[in-house]
Formats: sequence, structure tokens, C-alpha cells
Amino acid sequence: MKKNLAIYHISAIKNFEKISNLDDLKNFEQNFLGKKSELAVFFKELKNLTNEEKKEIGPFLQNIKKDLSAKIQQKRQNLELSELNKKLEKDWIDVTQNISPEEIGHIHPISQVQREVEKNFFSMGFEIADGPEIETEFNNFDALNIPTNHPARDMQDTFWIHSKSNDPQKNFVLRTQTSDVQIRKMLKEGAPIKLIAPGRVFRNEDIDASHGAVFFQIEGLLIDKNISMAHLKGTLETMLSEIFEKKITIRFRPGYFPFVEPGLEVDFSCTLCTGKGCKTCKNTGWIEFCGAGMVHPNVLKTCNIDPEVYSGFAFGFGLSRLTMMKYGINDHRLFFGMKKEFLEQF
Ligand code: PHE
Repeated sequence: MKKNLAIYHISAIKNFEKISNLDDLKNFEQNFLGKKSELAVFFKELKNLTNEEKKEIGPFLQNIKKDLSAKIQQKRQNLELSELNKKLEKDWIDVTQNISPEEIGHIHPISQVQREVEKNFFSMGFEIADGPEIETEFNNFDALNIPTNHPARDMQDTFWIHSKSNDPQKNFVLRTQTSDVQIRKMLKEGAPIKLIAPGRVFRNEDIDASHGAVFFQIEGLLIDKNISMAHLKGTLETMLSEIFEKKITIRFRPGYFPFVEPGLEVDFSCTLCTGKGCKTCKNTGWIEFCGAGMVHPNVLKTCNIDPEVYSGFAFGFGLSRLTMMKYGINDHRLFFGMKKEFLEQF
């Protein structure tokens, strides 16, 4: 038996020397020291030996077990350490490396243009107002002269937030336009009022190069005594000329929005061909820019403002369109693409 044990020990050591990873080590431990190993059988056989033999073989067997256990333990430590080192080498980062400020990121092009627009309106005395993205049906539609079942609601395919209420003050939508902020501010502060309201709006649109389900608008509202469309024209031309850093003219076409009367579609002179006609302006010399008009008397009345005393204009334009024109970008999806190569250009 002693000879068998010695052979066993030698073959165990030979196997042990080939081990190069933790999985193999685990298998080795099971095969040579485990409950089903040959060593365990030797231990079982001890009881069949004479006392004399037991005295000799017992310690011998124990020594083999101790030796293998010690070797396994030592190897495990070494392997664990070297696997850790390998991992560290792969994940290595130099925490002392200098990162230039540009690497940290910068303001998104849409936010950049938003800030420029805000700065410009601010310098003309406009307040920058804000409203929630989840809005009451009332502020988004009814108060803007778009009652339930009005066909104008179909112009804006709306995300409704389920509610069983028939009361438009208790029903909620993801706002489809920033015009809701007009209502909020007029109800709260009355006239005179002079604000712009930038913000995110939502419509259930199929997404393509020029349409999205989430986009950004900037609303404008000015209510005071003796306000006319000439003020609207001057205001928009001033802002656009500032953004494009050249003289921009605008033109009005009739347009329909229930909350303004008269309602307008506003175009600006194409910044690429300066009105001569090119691909971007489809040879018209004009770029569609925004909806606008004189605030409807019904809207003023709903907001407790006397239309006999006050009048005003409102407009709403898409911030993506303006940013695309400013930088010559042809697909608004790039704004949401998280592509560093695109974003880094601005
Ligand atoms: N809210 C309108 C839209 O999203 C735009 C608009 C704003 C029109 C203000 C007139 C006056 O289409």
C-alpha cells in the first residue's frame, strides 16, 4: 500500500505541475483530494489494516494529503494574483493623465442656438418663461380656442395620458406645442406681458429626416396696448438677423391657428441663396419658419384680459429647423444620434 501511495503521490504532483489556471486547479482538487478521489479510498482502507500498519501508513497518508493541500493553496494564491494582474493590465487607466476641457463635452447645438435666441429676445425686453411638459388638456387645447372635437385637434396627433375625466382641467397630455405657456402666464400675470417660452414638445409623428415625435419649440407672446403685426415683423427680423449674422427679411402668408386672428405662416429669406432660389429653399427663395398671428380675442377673454383694451401677437417656431439652417444640417435625427463626430463640430 505504501508503494501504491507513493506512486499516487508522484502522479498527483506530475498532474499538479501542468496546472495553469484556476479552473484546472479546481478540477485537480476534486480529483486528487475530493470525496471520490483515490486518496479517499486509501483513507477508507486504513481500517482494514493491522494496528502496526496503521501506525506506519496513517501518517504517510496524512502527509500526502497535507502536501497536496498546501501545494493547492499556494498555487491558488499565485493564480488569483496573476489573473487579477492580467485584468488590471487590461482595464488600466492613467488617473494622472491630463484631459483637456474639450474632452469633457460641450453644449449641444440645439441648446447653443436656444441660448442665442434667448439672449437676443432678452435684450429686446422679453422674459424667458417655462412650462411643464405634461400639461392639462385645457392649457394645451381648450384655452387656446381649440375645444373638444374641434378639427384643429387633428393637426396635432397627441400623446394622451389616460384619464377618465371629462374635465379638460383634469385630463393630461404631453404638450403638443409651447403655446400652453401663453395661457399659464396670462392667467397668472395678466397684461401687459412679453415673453418667450422655449421647450420640448411631443407629437405622435412617424420619424423621418424632417419630422420627429419629440422636438423643441420657442413660443413668443407680446400683449400690450396698440400692438400690431408690424411689431411682430420687426421682432422676428431682428432676432433672425442676429442669429444668422446677416440681414434677414420675413414674409407673411395667411395661415390657420385657432388661437390667433389673423393667423400667419412666416417665412424668412433663404440664408443660403439670399432669395435667389436654391435646393434648400426649393427654388422659392423662402424658408418656412413659424406659425404666428394676433392673439385671438377668445384667448384673451379666457385669460381675463380685455380684448378691447389689449392686443398682442404670438408666434411659435421649431428650434431644430433654425439650428439646421444655421449650420447647414440636413437631418434632424443627427441631433439625437449621440454621435461624437457630429456633435463635436459645433
Ligand atoms: N403652436 C403652433 C404650432 O405648434 C405655432 C403657433 C404659435 C402658431 C403661436 C401661432 C401662434 O404649430
